[in-house]
Amino acid sequence: MRSAHRIYSTEDARRLAKKRLPRTVFDFVEGGAGREVGMSRNVEQFDRILLQPRVMADVEERSQTTRLLESRYGAPFGVAPMGMCNLVCPHADRMIAETARDVNIPMCLSSAASSTLEHVYEWAGKNVWFQLYFGQSSEISLATAERAQNVGYSTLVLTVDVPQVSRRVRDLRNGFTMPFKMTPGAFFDFARHPGWSISTLAAGVPSPKNHIASGPGEGFVRNASRAGADWAFLEQLRARWHGKLIVKGITSPADAVRAQQAGVDAIYVSNHGARQLDGVPPSLRLLAIIRQAVGPAVPLLFDSGIRNGEDIVKALILGADFVMLGRPVMYALGAGGKQGLNDLLRCLVEDVDTTMAQLGATSVSDLGLHNLFVDREGADGSETNSARAKLHIAGQ
Ligand SMILES: Cc1cc2nc3c(=O)[nH]c(=O)nc-3n(C[C@H](O)[C@H](O)[C@H](O)COP(=O)(O)O)c2cc1C
Repeated sequence: MRSAHRIYSTEDARRLAKKRLPRTVFDFVEGGAGREVGMSRNVEQFDRILLQPRVMADVEERSQTTRLLESRYGAPFGVAPMGMCNLVCPHADRMIAETARDVNIPMCLSSAASSTLEHVYEWAGKNVWFQLYFGQSSEISLATAERAQNVGYSTLVLTVDVPQVSRRVRDLRNGFTMPFKMTPGAFFDFARHPGWSISTLAAGVPSPKNHIASGPGEGFVRNASRAGADWAFLEQLRARWHGKLIVKGITSPADAVRAQQAGVDAIYVSNHGARQLDGVPPSLRLLAIIRQAVGPAVPLLFDSGIRNGEDIVKALILGADFVMLGRPVMYALGAGGKQGLNDLLRCLVEDVDTTMAQLGATSVSDLGLHNLFVDREGADGSETNSARAKLHIAGQ
């Protein structure tokens, strides 16, 4: 799919995607838990953080190269795990995988993806990680991890914040289910979007492809319990997974410390884009608190609410080592397929770059709490970094 429209921001991508996609699909991507207040809060929290420009620093040469878990990436961000990407445009998983390989960023393939983990590894090579949801049993879940390990995956992300998929009112209203079932409402919705419907049907209706069935008829069921992803399972997984292990969906400092003690290689601070709990605190507010709890050594990944390059820089300043992109990637693919995705990534790279220049930073490791604006700072720079962190934790 080629788009005549260029994308200059996530908002452009969202607007175009909303026009092009059937409502059922757009709502699946955008929807959050409850009244979706948490979803807005995730985004608004970024606007509360102000940055302090510095001038006349030598910032002519700038680099976004970032090291994470013994890999070097071309930018400090990657693509978060998202199920059923092929719903927004045919071959979306392949587009993400090839783009990730070409621009050297990581993508995390979801357990609920509609492409097999074997195919995606062929397309992305070492740039793909695998995200695991607890399946019907520990044995089946460990077997899925082993399958990824045998294919060559070296990074596994265990998602732990979906003991049960939440009630998402938009999906309930639209009759959206996985595996997909055609309802009269969906039929009319699709008929109003013939471009999407013809290309999606021609490519085959997407369905989850990485579920290991325990018996006949035991396919992936979106609403099945995933509560088996407990501390005992994490221990089993740690013993069996030889590569890097990341635990995703941490929002509490106590859970972060416990995960660290369980021997994970990195902690992924995320509230799942507030798709699970409406009253969850905005992820960005949790970052500095979790960083304080776990100390400087353990890498922190971050998502939920990132919409532009300044957001990425703010997350890095507040303690993240790496940032992951969720909905914006889906909007971009829905808006313009691979070209849309490339447009979005270009915007983000440029945005991070110019933000760094404004802050007097030439590399991501230059970023820190000293880049936050605090209105109590004296001419002698008397406001300390820990005072900045405290102000942030207090919600300012
Ligand atoms: C359509 C969609 C599907 C998702 N599927 C998964 C998934 O399969 N596994 C997972 O760990 N997270 C999943 N997530 C959550 C994302 O990984 C990420 O945490 C979230 O999108 C971040 O919020 P943001 O998109 O508002 O920035 C999904 C998110 C969306 C929007």
